[in-house]
Amino acid sequence: MSADDQKRQAGEAAAELVESGMVVGLGTGSTAAWFVKALAVRKLHIRGVPTSDATANLARELGISLAALDDVKAVDLTVDGADEIGPGLSLIKGGGAALLREKLVWEASRRCVVIADAAKHVTVLGKFPLPIEVVRFGHVHTGQRLADIAAEFELPPPRLRMADRGVVVTDGGNLIYDMASGRIDEPAGLAAALKAVTGVVDHGLFLDLADEALLGTDAGVVRLTP
Ligand code: A5P
Repeated sequence: MSADDQKRQAGEAAAELVESGMVVGLGTGSTAAWFVKALAVRKLHIRGVPTSDATANLARELGISLAALDDVKAVDLTVDGADEIGPGLSLIKGGGAALLREKLVWEASRRCVVIADAAKHVTVLGKFPLPIEVVRFGHVHTGQRLADIAAEFELPPPRLRMADRGVVVTDGGNLIYDMASGRIDEPAGLAAALKAVTGVVDHGLFLDLADEALLGTDAGVVRLTP
């Protein structure tokens, strides 16, 4: 089975968790897109809170009613993908540059379910470079402070994320630095150090946020809890 089939399986299983009347956080990325598509097929009366402009566009095209995060008191259930799922359902997210809105929606949610293909499940986080969202103003200086933190953790300096047409800009107008680490042995310590830098808006370490994971595997969907 291809990774995409595994993603679809996980997305479809997560769509079964949704009930009419819910406010649902809609994640970003290729796996979350499978969830959004499966949810649209069910034609439930729900309101979706999108975590990116791309997801908002997809949901709109599929006829899902949308609400802004500030228009709802709380989100009942958020379903989103991840770049890595590590011990205790610690996550790296932000490969699609949507980590800030994702984290805001996750933190406003009663229940968060992460969906992924089997290869995303790892024994230690860090093979996937950690995305760090920074404000544009003074970002070269912020990048230097990130390099200092990386050195403390014996990691190479983070790199500004570029695309074919220049620097990558997030939906919030910020930039992304990616910290290639190989392995993150102390995610909580690294998260705290990054968050303490003035120019850092947030980072892709999602710790103690996921309530469960649905992994698509060749043997079917496997449910993991922290
Ligand atoms: C978006 O910024 C990310 O957090 C995605 O959720 C993550 O990159 C997973 O994407 P895929 O489902 O496309 O692998």
